[in-house]
Amino acid sequence: MNSDLQKEAFRIEGLAGAKTLSGAVTIGGAKNAALPTLAALPLFKGSVSLSNIPHITDIRRMAALLRGIGVDLIQPEHGTYEAVVKKIGDPTFDEDLGKRMRASIILTGPVLARCGSVTFPHPGGCVIGERPIDLFLEGYRKMGATVERTGDVYTISAPNGTLQGAEIFFKVPSHTATETLMMAAVLAEGETVLKNCSMEPEITDLATFLVRCGAQIEGAGTPTMRITGGGLLQADEEHAVMPDRLEAGSFLVLGALCANDLTIQSCNPEHLEAVLYRLTEAGVPITVSESAIEITGNTASNDTFNAFDIKTHEYPGYPTDLQAPSTVFLTQCTGESVVFETIFEGRLHYTEDLVRMGADITMWDPHRVQIKGPTPLKGKELEGPDIRAGLAFIIAALVAEGESIITNINYIDRGYERIEKKLQSIGASVERVSK
Ligand code: EPU
Repeated sequence: MNSDLQKEAFRIEGLAGAKTLSGAVTIGGAKNAALPTLAALPLFKGSVSLSNIPHITDIRRMAALLRGIGVDLIQPEHGTYEAVVKKIGDPTFDEDLGKRMRASIILTGPVLARCGSVTFPHPGGCVIGERPIDLFLEGYRKMGATVERTGDVYTISAPNGTLQGAEIFFKVPSHTATETLMMAAVLAEGETVLKNCSMEPEITDLATFLVRCGAQIEGAGTPTMRITGGGLLQADEEHAVMPDRLEAGSFLVLGALCANDLTIQSCNPEHLEAVLYRLTEAGVPITVSESAIEITGNTASNDTFNAFDIKTHEYPGYPTDLQAPSTVFLTQCTGESVVFETIFEGRLHYTEDLVRMGADITMWDPHRVQIKGPTPLKGKELEGPDIRAGLAFIIAALVAEGESIITNINYIDRGYERIEKKLQSIGASVERVSK
């Protein structure tokens, strides 16, 4: 990791509840679609061109992991990667890189399927709760592989070098386990049936790309997927990764609280129905077209928004990744609300900092908080705890009165490409400074 990045901070001048931001932001490629799409490269032979890839830390790490196992990967221009996949050399991940991000686990599926074995460290990532990998290991075992563990390093091996198709039921729907086992099945022998799958649009985006390149995958975006294994895939045209629904959703919440008029363009509003429904019900003036969301004439004060409850849920429910920005929104609404984080058990700690800023939030238990609003917020020094809560702090700082300093912004940089530039372009006073 670039140690300079860790020393950077955002200095933000709050708007004290005024809605003076306006303009348009263009949404970039989705982190959580770009990561598995890059991780799919070992399933291919020949050249693969990918575009709309965000320029963020996690992507650079995934690219480094791929280069480390022998994938020839270049970045000819901003947002574009070109790979030539010949032979995968040593299917052993760089330990330090693998530990630094949760998404390294996704690469284990394609590498295992291609090479017959893979060695990798227990993946790290944001501290948002316990993040086990049992679903991955159980899936590989069902496909005939053996699992050995030495300390924090796993080696998975397929007998005779080939995985066998299997029927796999996920005890909980898991976004990355669904895409990882889907990819492992693409090169396995016979048919794999995945049940109780996650249905996130990023999985469908990936499956659509793989099918175009020769994979036999049915049912992506539904709870049951059927994959028939075959040979290596071949890409004949560039694949553009889908827009980031979480970046779009974050700007939607920001716009609701701080913008008079805001256009969020190059996004897919269909991916944000749960959030659009709630914010519209709360009174935010939103209009939606095919690839844009607009907030117009948002002049009423925030305390005219009505509070609502949130229970996070796998897609198409209310996304856990927008829970923190939405909680900031609720601190400005009139009434009481309960936020129930059902997916991760460590994803509400940031609310303690919102309380320091003036929010009236009571933690009932690690999964539930009660919010009473509206409450004015005051600028503070805040430490970004993970990608999404870091972004929520930016929104809270913009709502607040006075200056805030957000440190530990390397987390925010993991998920959002130069977020301060987009914020500045709509009139926000946000500066990247050295600490
Ligand atoms: N789970 C298990 N065993 C496993 C894997 C997951 O019990 O082997 C549990 C988790 O503990 C959790 C639940 O399953 O309770 C769902 O987690 P999931 O596996 O779906 O999360 P993930 O795949 O690790 C992805 C995103 C996260 C996002 C979640 C939920 C990527 C790279 N990450 O994580 O994104 O929060 O799905 O939608 O796609 C982010 O972008 O900030 C981020 C954290």
